[in-house]
Formats: sequence, structure tokens, C-alpha cells
Amino acid sequence: MQTSHHGWRLLVAGAAIALLWVLLPSPGRAQTLAGRWVGTDRVLDNGEKLISILALTQDGDKLTGTLKSESYSMDVHGTATGNHFELFGPRSATRPMITGDLANGELHGTVFGRREFVAKAATSADQIPEVKYIAPPALHDVPDNGLAKTPPMGWNSWNLFAGKVDDATVRTIADAMVASGMRDAGYIYVNIDDTWEGVRDANGNLQTNHKFPDMKALAGYVHSKGLKLGIYSGPGPRTCAGYPASYSHEEQDAKTFAAWGIDYLKYDWCSAATIYKDSELQPVYQKMGGALEATGRPIVYSLCEYGRGQVETWGTKVGGNLWRTTGDINDSWSSMIGNLEKQVPTAPYAGPGHWNDPDMLEIGNGHMTDDEYRTHMSLWALVAAPLLAGNDIRNMSEATKAILLNKEVIAVDQDPLGKQASPVKSGDMETWVKALTNGSVAVGVVNLGGSATQATVNASDLHLPGAVKSARDLWKHQDVQFIDGKYTAEVPSHGVLMLRVSAQ
Ligand code: GLA
Repeated sequence: MQTSHHGWRLLVAGAAIALLWVLLPSPGRAQTLAGRWVGTDRVLDNGEKLISILALTQDGDKLTGTLKSESYSMDVHGTATGNHFELFGPRSATRPMITGDLANGELHGTVFGRREFVAKAATSADQIPEVKYIAPPALHDVPDNGLAKTPPMGWNSWNLFAGKVDDATVRTIADAMVASGMRDAGYIYVNIDDTWEGVRDANGNLQTNHKFPDMKALAGYVHSKGLKLGIYSGPGPRTCAGYPASYSHEEQDAKTFAAWGIDYLKYDWCSAATIYKDSELQPVYQKMGGALEATGRPIVYSLCEYGRGQVETWGTKVGGNLWRTTGDINDSWSSMIGNLEKQVPTAPYAGPGHWNDPDMLEIGNGHMTDDEYRTHMSLWALVAAPLLAGNDIRNMSEATKAILLNKEVIAVDQDPLGKQASPVKSGDMETWVKALTNGSVAVGVVNLGGSATQATVNASDLHLPGAVKSARDLWKHQDVQFIDGKYTAEVPSHGVLMLRVSAQ
């Protein structure tokens, strides 16, 4: 009796432990991450709610799947450790794109350690809207719009302000472009990047969101300061930040931009990748190029497709004045130098009216040293890149001003011959040479190494039409002497020696 009663109690206790073990998530035993998860927490500045769907399959601790929204569609892969997971995008090999945990049947985590998200189990009602494929037009050459005879100069909101840009910011930046001397140094375009967009009205006209109450009035204000206004859209249904873009509304949007008084359009591939193949890039970009031309308004056309499909070989044919040749820059030495190095094969394609774009400037944004920012400015000028400041012009240090407003370096960028520099010497003291008008050249020696080093410029590397007649250090603003066909100076780590050298 005693024994059997004791046995019964043991049985009940055992069953309770087993039940708890099944019900309570424990670090060693994960619930499955497989399934369709929907994130609904993104509310745009135009009031729209954007959903994204993560579809995962799990095999042991291995995860594979897709992440989709109206603006992107990508394969993901990663690992599960208990209820914790890490997912990598197709290009993020070293840093996980999404990390999080499964808790109470929901995924909680962050994207690149920054933006937080919550995803719930999706039902069949959670679907990304289907977009009908529209075949791009037959190829033809869009005529040259005659703009951007030298690389465009100005300011763009993205690098510093991103989603925080609004009407007041743009007006005060325009004021500061004048007060700081930026406008008079040639920085003319004030460009609004992503997140200005509202929704389409009943007639399909794209409106602004509450941050830009009257775009036409804003253009009027910017024009009254002797500046020009730029805007942003893309060939897909959504921009990179998820806002409505110009898919199936190309002509209508071009007309809207022209009616507002827009002078520059950056046209960003983003969600077009969910509809079109890279082999369709050219006709898709041609569609907006033709639509801009049809407005009759001079509008600089900036292609932003990160250098896909050898854009440098067809960018001019679609009416493009500049085209990105790289992914997005960030305010770091490695990103800046990485983008620059990708310019080497594109050099033959730069010239008046059409430029390679290694992305906007980060000068003054605070995460590089002044030496590194001087190198950034010098290299962008040498490769005849667009000079679009990406910092807060209203609040610049003396060092930032001296860099962005160095007229001798700007003159190298804006040289009317429009040649793009190529490297003549690799290694830690990388040397770039750019041919200028009147038989001069600009030369930049960048110290990629970790300590100050002597840089030697050999006249024989400069392909001058004769012997050196004069030379000038464009950062010291001093004439310098070549002796025995050479000039030597010390360059700090990550710094630059930049000279203009003229022949007899
Ligand atoms: C892409 C572009 C950036 C910027 C953002 C805006 O990433 O390459 O320059 O325009 O989109 O969403």
C-alpha cells in the first residue's frame, strides 16, 4: 500500500516534469523558427504601413529562406542556437543582417543591430502585393540634355539626415550654402534624397508627405538663392526606404517634377530588382531618361544602380549625366577608399556631360580624420566625381570648410577637359594622375599605410608634354620645386600629397 501510494506520487511528479519540459522553452531546446513570419511595424512618413515577410526553413541549426517586401526580395541564410537566430543577407558575409530571438511565438530582433522589429506568424491574408510586369521600351538613344559639362556639385540629404530631411532643413541648408560660400565655390544643387514621398492621389499624381508641404514653393525658395533643387525616385514600385517610386508612372512623375521646378533627379534601382533583370537595366533607365527629355525642362539625370550591368558603357545612351559605380558609401576610411578603388576600370567613360559617381561625400560627418577627409576630397576631384556634400552645411568646423571650399582642388574636379584620373603607382603610396587642360596634370599620392612616409612624385610618371615648369601643393597652397625630375614630401598615414604640375 505504502509502496504503491509512493509509486503513484512519483508517477505524477514525473509526468508534471515532462509536461513542463515540453511547455517551457529552454535554452537547449528550441521551438522551430521555420514558417512564414510577418513584420508590420514599419510606418512611413506618408502614413503607409509596410509589411515584410520572412519565410524560413530550418534543418537542425541551419536556416534558409527569403525576406520580401514591396521594396526588396532577397535570399537569407543563417543559424539557430536554441531560440536565438542570426540571418545573413546575400552580400553580408561577415556581419549578420538580422539577429533575434523567438519568444512567445514571435520573433524579436534588430536589423544590423539598429532597427528593432517584431514579427508574428503570418496568415494567408499577409501577402506582399503582386506587381504586374511591364515590358521596358525598345532601345533607342536619348539625346544629350547638354547639362553637367563638369561634374555636378551640390549637397544631398541622405548621408547625414536620411529620413529626417524636411522642408525647413532644406531651406536652412540653402541659406547656409550661400552664407558659407559653398554656392559661390560651385556647389549649386540642393538635393532631397529618399523619404519626401507621399501617396498618389486619385489621378495617380505623386504627392509629397507632411515633411514637404509645398514642393513648388520650396523650389522657388531654393531658386531665389541662386541654387537648384534635386529630388529622388526610382524605376521600381518602391524606393529603397519603402516609399512610392515611379514604376508605371514615369511620364506622369517626370511632368510633376518639372512642374515643381526640379532641376536634378536621382533615380534609384531598389525595388526594380524585384521586377526586372539586370539585362533590362538600360531600357528601364531609358524610360525615365525619355520622360525627362519630354518635359522640356533641363533636369540632370543621376542613375543610381550601384554600378550593375556595366552602367558606364550605356549610361549616356539613356540620357544619364552621372551614374553610381559602387554600393553606398559610409563615413569610414575603408568604405571611402573601397569605392574609390572601383573607379579604375570606369575611367575611359567619364567626360563632359557624363560622369562616374563613387557616391556622395562624407566630409565633415565626423567619423574620419581631417587627413582622411582631405584624401576623400582629393581623390573625388582626381577621378572627376560629382562633389555632393553630405554633411550639415549649417554647422561646419573650420577644417571641414577648408576642405570642401578648397578652390584649387575644386578646380581639378571641374577641369573642362573632364578626364578621370588613373593610378600610375600602386602599393602603400598609391599615385593617381589626372590630365588637365593646357598641358597640366593633377597628381595625388595617397598614403594607405599606417605611418607617415616620404612620397616621391616622378615627373616621368606624369605624361606631361614637356619638362616641369611649375608645380603647386594644392593643400598647402604653395608653389613647390621639382629637382632632378622629382618632388618629395612627407605624407601622414591616410593623408595625401596633391599637386598641380605644368609643363613648359
Ligand atoms: C540607396 C542609395 C542611397 C540612398 C538610399 C535612400 O541605398 O544608394 O544613396 O539614396 O537608397 O533610401
